Amino acid sequence: MTTKTSLAAEQLKNDPRLAEAKKLILDAVAEHQRPLVSVRPPSPELVADYQQMLSDFGAIRGGNIFFPYLGSGIGNGPFVELADGSVKLDLITGIGVHGYGHSHPMLIEAGINAAIGDTIMQGNLQQNTNSCDISKLLTDVACESGAGLKHCFLSTSGAMANENSLKMAFQKNHPANRVIAFTHCFAGRTLGLAQVTDKAKYRVGLPDTISVDYIPFFNENDPEKSTQYAVKRFKHHVERHPGKHAALWMELIQGEGGYYEGNTEFFEALIEVARENKIAVIADEVQTFCRTTRPFAFQHFGLDKQVDLVTIGKISQVCATLFTDDYIPQPGLISQTFTGSTWAIVAAHKIVSGLIANGNFGADGKNVRLNQHFAAGLKAVGAKYPGSISGPYGVGGMIAFTPFDGSAAIASEMVKRLYDAGLMSFMAGGDPSRVRFLIPLGCVDESHIDMACQILENVVSKMV
Ligand SMILES: Cc1ncc(COP(=O)(O)O)c(C=O)c1O
Repeated sequence: MTTKTSLAAEQLKNDPRLAEAKKLILDAVAEHQRPLVSVRPPSPELVADYQQMLSDFGAIRGGNIFFPYLGSGIGNGPFVELADGSVKLDLITGIGVHGYGHSHPMLIEAGINAAIGDTIMQGNLQQNTNSCDISKLLTDVACESGAGLKHCFLSTSGAMANENSLKMAFQKNHPANRVIAFTHCFAGRTLGLAQVTDKAKYRVGLPDTISVDYIPFFNENDPEKSTQYAVKRFKHHVERHPGKHAALWMELIQGEGGYYEGNTEFFEALIEVARENKIAVIADEVQTFCRTTRPFAFQHFGLDKQVDLVTIGKISQVCATLFTDDYIPQPGLISQTFTGSTWAIVAAHKIVSGLIANGNFGADGKNVRLNQHFAAGLKAVGAKYPGSISGPYGVGGMIAFTPFDGSAAIASEMVKRLYDAGLMSFMAGGDPSRVRFLIPLGCVDESHIDMACQILENVVSKMV
């Protein structure tokens, strides 16, 4: 009888030589990453070559990169070594991608397992069992408190996951061809999503594609009025274009927009209007996934029964669109050569199940505890240097503050100064501009947050 263990792939997986090779590799990585436990400046002898590489790269790309950052290829949790010999404390993680930091043994092992697989990429025509495993995990987790998100389609970027969700919503609600979205939302940079993203700068020179009507986001200083006003604007757009809206596009916590969160009542009031008008409810969780008290932010806000389509990306490595029965696309609508690299797909499983198993979620989970610790540290710096830091804002693994007057210039200057001092952050929002962190939730502890606050304090002391 043929059993699973007789598969060549299983035999390879269980080959003792593989276990030995993995151990050797992981031991070598551990040995070389061990010294990377604090920030350090560049090595003078590497600086000239590094600068040359940066300027060559900028010329090839047609523009310089924001940070003078070229990784050497090794790190240790939140610490990362750059090719100029410097070590940074990385609390922005590629804008929320490296949830287990740098060179994490769990993910290196996932990479080895992927590397001995038969292909680098998986795609719609040929997928391996890993694609089934991650799709099953994501739908199981998504449905665990009542959502009907039984289906999952993998893709390679947040934008692609979002495009797929919009296509499904348009197809189901044809001939509706408009979208309702929040002001200051960010949805991605494809031709379609550049229209949804509420930033004129990101669509300079682009043709109009999708028609989008904007409604204001929640204002925590005036919850009731801001909810009523958003509902009023929503109804106004629906009355102006009856039957024309295919989707309500929601970031439940605005990321690029500046770390603003809504509340359950706000979202429910808008969803009620959407339901009355047969408008699909889409939650863009590309940035929020795995960062709140629950794996999905729609679960954090108790909207399980109200979402039709949900997208994820960034921390999950492989991106995905989850959807209910009603939104199953007709054949031909959704397909891609690549659904993801084998490593991304294998790692996604490890990351999501790892964060669940390691107590990151829950009202008192690690995500919340780290946020509280960080918030206390930021407040302490703000108290020591009045006027330097307001906030903090955000939930769990998303935390931000407004520096000084909140101008774009001061936020950008602070981010650059923090970088030079060894701490990686990034800007968010426009008015005010904020400094934000996307904490690598799988690998940091309070001591890393304390180090970050110490660096911040040193930088602030020079800016007052
Ligand atoms: C909320 C949100 N949606 C979509 C995207 C686009 O994802 P990607 O850059 O992977 O295409 C981002 C990226 O920052 C995002 O924050």
